[in-house]
Amino acid sequence: MLAFLLLKNTMSKSYACIGLQNPKSPENVGSVMRAAGCYGVNSVFYTGRRYDVAKPFYTDTQNAYQKLPLIGVEDLASVVPLGCVPIAVELVAGAKPLPSYKHPPRAFYIFGPEDGSLSKAVTDFCSETIYVPTDGCMNLAATVNVILYDRLAKGDDFSYHHAALKHQS
Ligand SMILES: C[S@@+](CC[C@H](N)C(=O)[O-])C[C@H]1O[C@@H](n2cnc3c(N)ncnc32)[C@H](O)[C@@H]1O
Repeated sequence: MLAFLLLKNTMSKSYACIGLQNPKSPENVGSVMRAAGCYGVNSVFYTGRRYDVAKPFYTDTQNAYQKLPLIGVEDLASVVPLGCVPIAVELVAGAKPLPSYKHPPRAFYIFGPEDGSLSKAVTDFCSETIYVPTDGCMNLAATVNVILYDRLAKGDDFSYHHAALKHQS
């Protein structure tokens, strides 16, 4: 495991964080944490109080929250990590379609709540808005998985992962 982490840190230049605007359900946040752990996200930020009142992480079966920071903040604009491009993810007119989107090396992906959409305040401070051309919107955690897989699939260096698999066998 240590070898995997060292290889990943030295060979992967990618850096990604996630922001959740006022998420509602612990199932979704748990699934987002699990996805974040699987895809090597560096930290997850969320706003609002709804999640705080229902905190069991029962869908995060890998207990990603123990290794990966999950941080409640007042305002996502104030926590954009240094050098990260803030990217709104929303099914909205004018957004860029994910299939042809080129991810920046340092990205802060921001997602809306289960029962609403990203506020204009958020889309305004983001550099761009992207969307997945689906017929109707996906579940919040499903969207996070799709965006992170797309980022991984379009990346250019997975040698650390191959090396880690070899090391395990
Ligand atoms: C369940 S959706 C929001 C629900 C929806 N606005 C409604 O009618 O209540 C939760 C979040 O997932 C993301 N999302 C879901 N489907 C998406 C898509 N096809 N493209 C981009 N973002 C999507 C957005 O960030 C959205 O705010």
